[in-house]
Amino acid sequence: MPLPQEFIEELKARSSIEDVVSSYVSLKRRGRTMVGLCPFHSEKTPSFTVYPDNGSFYCFGCGAGGDIITFIEKIENLDYMEAVRSLAQRAGMAVPESEEDRGLAKLRMRLYALNRDAARFYHRVLLSPQGAVGMEYFSRRALTRQTITHFGLGYAPPSRFALVDYLHQKGYSDQEMIQANTAFSSRNGHAVDRFHDRVMFPIIDLRGNVVAFGGRVLGQGGPKYLNTSDTPIFSKGRNLFALNFAKDTAAQGLILCEGYMDVIALHQAGFQNAVAGLGTALTPEQARLIAHYTGEVIASYDADTAGQRAASRSIPLLRQAGLNVRILVVPDGKDPDEFIRSHGENGHARFQQLLDSCGNDVEYRLQKLKKGIDLKTPDGKIQYLNAAAEVLAALDNEIEREVYAGRLAEEAGIQRAALLQQVQSVRKKKQRRRQKKEFRTFRRQSTGAQDRLNPDKYQNLRAARAEEELLGAILDYPENAAYAAEKLSPEKWITAFNRRVYTLIVGKMKDGKAVGLTDLVDSLSQDEMGKVAGYCARHAGVPAGRPEVDSYIRVLLEENDKQNVRAGSDSDISRYLQELRAQKK
Ligand code: CTP
Ligand code: MN
Repeated sequence: MPLPQEFIEELKARSSIEDVVSSYVSLKRRGRTMVGLCPFHSEKTPSFTVYPDNGSFYCFGCGAGGDIITFIEKIENLDYMEAVRSLAQRAGMAVPESEEDRGLAKLRMRLYALNRDAARFYHRVLLSPQGAVGMEYFSRRALTRQTITHFGLGYAPPSRFALVDYLHQKGYSDQEMIQANTAFSSRNGHAVDRFHDRVMFPIIDLRGNVVAFGGRVLGQGGPKYLNTSDTPIFSKGRNLFALNFAKDTAAQGLILCEGYMDVIALHQAGFQNAVAGLGTALTPEQARLIAHYTGEVIASYDADTAGQRAASRSIPLLRQAGLNVRILVVPDGKDPDEFIRSHGENGHARFQQLLDSCGNDVEYRLQKLKKGIDLKTPDGKIQYLNAAAEVLAALDNEIEREVYAGRLAEEAGIQRAALLQQVQSVRKKKQRRRQKKEFRTFRRQSTGAQDRLNPDKYQNLRAARAEEELLGAILDYPENAAYAAEKLSPEKWITAFNRRVYTLIVGKMKDGKAVGLTDLVDSLSQDEMGKVAGYCARHAGVPAGRPEVDSYIRVLLEENDKQNVRAGSDSDISRYLQELRAQKK
C-alpha cells in the first residue's frame, strides 16, 4: 500500500536534507549549496552537492542523486519503505501502517516471544539433569556458571520434538516455529526441531530480543555450528554477536573476532567490548554498525589461513566505514578463546598485552610483506621497499605516510627521503590512472554514445539538451511549469525518458500543486531520480527565466517540425520506391 502523499510531504518538510546528509558526509557551504566528498564513489575532490532549496542532492562525479529518501535508501542500503521508516523515526513521526504492515508487526512480535521462550527452554534444559552433557562441555571450555547465565547459554536435547512440544504447550503454531527457524518442516508439513544435541548460543539484538541461535555440536560431526537462517526478525549480515553487551563499552574500541566462543571467553576475561560476526564474511552493514558505536576496531581473526583471508577481506570494509583498524594476531596459531584459556588466571593480563602492542593494519600488512623476503640481500630489500611503498601510497594521510616511511627506512637502513620519493611516485602513477579513468567516464557521459536511461538522447542531441534544460527549469522554478505546460504538450517531446518525466510533472500539476523534484520519487527509480536531479543541479543558483524557457520550447517545436518533414520525406521515398517496383514489373 503506498503511503499517503501528505505523510511523505510532511516527512520531507520535517527532515532537513542538510542535517540528514551531514550525519554521513562532512559538508561545506558553497553559496546556496553544500558540497562534500561523495559517499557513493571514492573521490578526492568534492563533487557531491546538496541543494537545501529543493531538498535534493547530486554527485557530479558518479551521477548519484535524488531526494532525502533516495539518499537514505542508497547509503543505508534500505528499500523505500525502510528508508521512510528510518527518516520518520528521526523526525519523530509515526508511519501510517497498512493492514499488511500490521500483520507483519504482529508476526514479528510472535517470533520475538517464541525465540525468548525457546531460549528459556534451552537454558532450563542445560541446567537440568538432561543437560549434563552440555554442562560438562561448557566446563571443559572453562565457562563459569555466571557466564552461562549472562549469555543465556543452553542445550538442545537429542529428541526430535523437545522444543516443538514445549512451544505447542505455550500456544505457538507449527507455522510460527518454522518461520522462526527453530523448526523445519517435515514432509507432511509438521514442525520438527532444528537443533539436536547441541549447546546453544542465543543471539540477542540491540533491544535485547532473542532473534536467533547458534548451536554447536558436542563432539565431531558437522556442521560444527548450525545457525538460524534469516527470518522476519533476523538478518545475519546486519547483526553482531554480543553487540548488545559490547555497545556499552564500545567507545574504547570494539574487538572483532570470529567465533561465539572467542567472544564469550573474552567477556569472561573482562573484555566486554568483544563482538563477532555470525558465521559469514563481514558485511558492509556490519562495518557500519560497528562504526555507529566506535571509531576503532581491533580485528582479532584466527591465525589460520581462513582467518587471515577473512581478515584481509574485512579490513577494507572496516576502513571504508571510517574506522581505524588495528590487527591483533594471537600467537601460536591459537584463537582468542584458546589463548585466554591456556593462560588461566593470567588470561586477562596476557590478552591485554596483545591489545596494547598490536599495531594498526598498515603495520600488519607491512609485516606480512616481509614474510618470504630475505631482507639481508639487496634484491630482497628492494623488493620489500617497492612493495611497502605500494602500501604506504594507499594512505591518504600524509603524517601516517611519514611515520611509517621513517620506521621502514630505519629498519632497512636507507634514507627516509628516498623511500618517500618512491611512495610519491607510486601515488602519482595511481592518480594519473584515476584521472584517466575519470576522464573516460566523463567523456562517455558527456559525448558518450549511450545513455542507458534515455537511449533516444543521441538520436537528437539538440532536442534532448533542450528537454533537459527545460525539465531543470521547471522543477527548480515551479512558476515555469504552468507556462511550459500551456505552450508545450507532452507529445511534442522528442526523447522518451524526458517525455515521461514531463508527463509525470504535468499530471501532478493537475492537482494545482507546484511540482518539485522530490515529488517524483515514487514514480522514478533511484537511477532515474539521480538523472533528473542532475538536470536540476545544472540550474541551481542560476534561475532560468522566461526567455530561456521560451528558447527551449522553440528548439523543441523546431525539432518537431524537422521530424515531421523527415517522416514526410520518408513516406515520399517509400512511395517512390513502390512506384519504381511497379514500373519494373
Ligand atoms: N561457524 C559457523 N558454521 C560453521 C563453522 C563456524 O557458523 N560450520 C561460525 C561460528 O560463528 C563460529 C565461527 O564461525 O563461532 C568461527 O568458527 P571456528 O573458528 O571454526 O570455530 P570456533 O569459534 O573456534 O569454535 P570452537 O572454539 O567452538 O571450536
Ligand atoms: Mn575456537
